[in-house]
Amino acid sequence: MCAVMARGLFITFEGGEGAGKSTQVDRLVSRLAGLGREVVKTREPGGSPGGEAIRGLLVAGEADRWSPIAETLLMYAARRDHVERVVSPALERGATVVCDRFADSTRAYQGAGGGAPAGLIEALERHVLGAVRPDLTLILDLPVETGLARAAARGGGENRFEAKGPDFHRRLREAFLAIARAEPGRCVVIDAAPAPNAVALAVWAAVSSRVGAP
Ligand code: TMP
Repeated sequence: MCAVMARGLFITFEGGEGAGKSTQVDRLVSRLAGLGREVVKTREPGGSPGGEAIRGLLVAGEADRWSPIAETLLMYAARRDHVERVVSPALERGATVVCDRFADSTRAYQGAGGGAPAGLIEALERHVLGAVRPDLTLILDLPVETGLARAAARGGGENRFEAKGPDFHRRLREAFLAIARAEPGRCVVIDAAPAPNAVALAVWAAVSSRVGAP
């Protein structure tokens, strides 16, 4: 990918398991679309046909199916395809992209959670993403036990990461909060414990100032 300047707004949602990201992504996308903007809703791992094929390898099966480094490389293979085919073209034509998880999830899950070297992850960010970085990241924060209970109640087959123990999930939460502290201009931490309507209001408060909306 040659260096491409992002022109649209790139918004990502991050957080641990069961934080309610999908609901909040849907609400934000509807609200932005209601302003007459072109909004592209997408997710990681996945978001493009190649990315979705790799997702199938990542989210199902035994918890130790991949080593942290192998998992990092698969995440970045999926991410590169997604960025090349979906995210960059959308930003270049001025669309707002709302993505359920992005590079911070690799820092948290594979890095802080799994122990993949931070230097490897930084190098992948630099070489694979280049200038394609989120303008705004909403980190939905929740106590680990609450999130895992919500995720278990939701069920479904994509539970490979849920199956990693509570210590793994505590490291994730700390990692997301540390990313927010390190990059306060990009990240906003949102308390995900209240009802979805209240969380959506907090999300909108963070987004509206950046999109020039009322
Ligand atoms: P989801 O449940 O939010 O759709 O995400 C699927 C799983 O993939 C989730 O358990 C987190 C995990 N994941 C990583 O471990 N690293 C990553 O870089 C991404 C994007 C997701």
